[in-house]
Amino acid sequence: MDKQLKIALLGLGTVGSGVPLILKEHKEKISQVTGMEILVEKALVRNKAAKAEIAKEYGIELVTDFKEILEDQDIQVVVELLGKIEPAKTYIVQALESGKHVVTANKDLLAQHGSELVAVARKNHCDLYYEASVAGGIPILRTIANSLAADNIHKVLGIVNGTTNYMLTKMVSEKLTYETALEQAQQLGFAESDPTNDVDGIDAAYKMVILTQFAFGMTLHLSDIETKGIRGLALEDIEMAHQLGYTIKLIGSSSMLEESVTAEVGPVLVPSNHPLASVQNEMNAVFVDSAGVGESMYYGAGAGAKPTATSVVSDLITTAKNLRLGISGHQFNSYKNETKIASDQEIISKYYFSIEVPDKVGQFLKLTQIVTNEGISFDQLIQQQSDGERARIVIITHKMTKAQMKQVKQAIGQIPEFELLANYKVLD
Ligand SMILES: NC(=O)c1ccc[n+]([C@@H]2O[C@H](COP(=O)([O-])OP(=O)(O)OC[C@H]3O[C@@H](n4cnc5c(N)ncnc54)[C@H](OP(=O)(O)O)[C@@H]3O)[C@@H](O)[C@H]2O)c1
Repeated sequence: MDKQLKIALLGLGTVGSGVPLILKEHKEKISQVTGMEILVEKALVRNKAAKAEIAKEYGIELVTDFKEILEDQDIQVVVELLGKIEPAKTYIVQALESGKHVVTANKDLLAQHGSELVAVARKNHCDLYYEASVAGGIPILRTIANSLAADNIHKVLGIVNGTTNYMLTKMVSEKLTYETALEQAQQLGFAESDPTNDVDGIDAAYKMVILTQFAFGMTLHLSDIETKGIRGLALEDIEMAHQLGYTIKLIGSSSMLEESVTAEVGPVLVPSNHPLASVQNEMNAVFVDSAGVGESMYYGAGAGAKPTATSVVSDLITTAKNLRLGISGHQFNSYKNETKIASDQEIISKYYFSIEVPDKVGQFLKLTQIVTNEGISFDQLIQQQSDGERARIVIITHKMTKAQMKQVKQAIGQIPEFELLANYKVLD
């Protein structure tokens, strides 16, 4: 092999330690497709002693000062696998400004500062790839940017957070409460000790910002995405949804309505025969509805050292090929549209309402009036008797606008003896 591509890793954690492993295990194939040997020269770590073994195994020089990477003229690519915003952002900007290409898996950073980083990369004619930032091992970004470039995407729906999907699977299959499912996920290492970003849907919202950029060329801010997590999701609602023929999943969705986009994250009742309903445990899937291909789904491991490092290495391969061809500096996703956000009057869906009411006659009539006042009727209804004092009514409405749904919620809230327990979107 006459050509070598020298790279540096920032971080040797779960994904960082997977990268030299994948490069070693698939060395022959990678050399064949790139015409280059990819060598990990240096890795930035906090504690050299803690990473001495892996460094020795792969012949990597450990450094604790980023300058040693930045000022090394032989290093052409920096692979950022530290996570969080700082110092990752500063290091990426400095690397790009000194002409080094960058690969990262950092969805927090891409979702919040993606446009700025893409601009810095363009200005410096450098590559910036981040396939692993959405759905770990599933090659979804490159699929949308390249393979579906000829298609017109209407909708992207994703189970893009493995932690919450694992918890929901256990809540359904073993009837675990939210609290027990979270404890189990933490014991197995699927959930962090502070699970906020996962259970409150923030991690999924980061990924929907990136997916919306790729699918529709529109740049959303996190605040444009209405985000609800699974914290406090009741076992009763999971069971009720099941009786009605649905499975509750934490879904990130992004849809194009005429010329405007709407993106949300939240628990959604997915029909039990929909492909997304069968995505179990920590697995991820992205479901795409497009004009040409129709419905397609991309399923796989959303996290883990090997799957995620495989995506990182695929970005390195693209960077290596670009270098050989002399075409570095093209944007990962060059599709751009003016960003327009849909109004509540344009967003249409079926909705699930679970309401606690006094256990006496006439309650159903009151509820019917609220919904019919909006010109909407019920698709399905279950009335559960309880202890003789309070009863629970569960309804699935026919399609209504989000504005109408908000009116119904408000009207329910105005009846003192009614308590709205849950309100979720229902997928067709
Ligand atoms: N894990 C996955 O399956 C997965 C999937 C998709 C995307 N990602 C993304 O990949 C990135 C890395 O995730 P990970 O799971 O590999 O995280 P991780 O296991 O926590 O690894 C991060 C590593 O970076 C090191 N680090 C952090 N700040 C540093 C600094 N200032 N200087 C030097 N070293 C520093 C940490 O060192 P210490 O050990 O000293 O703290 C740790 O070894 C994140 O952006 C994450 O969102 C991960």
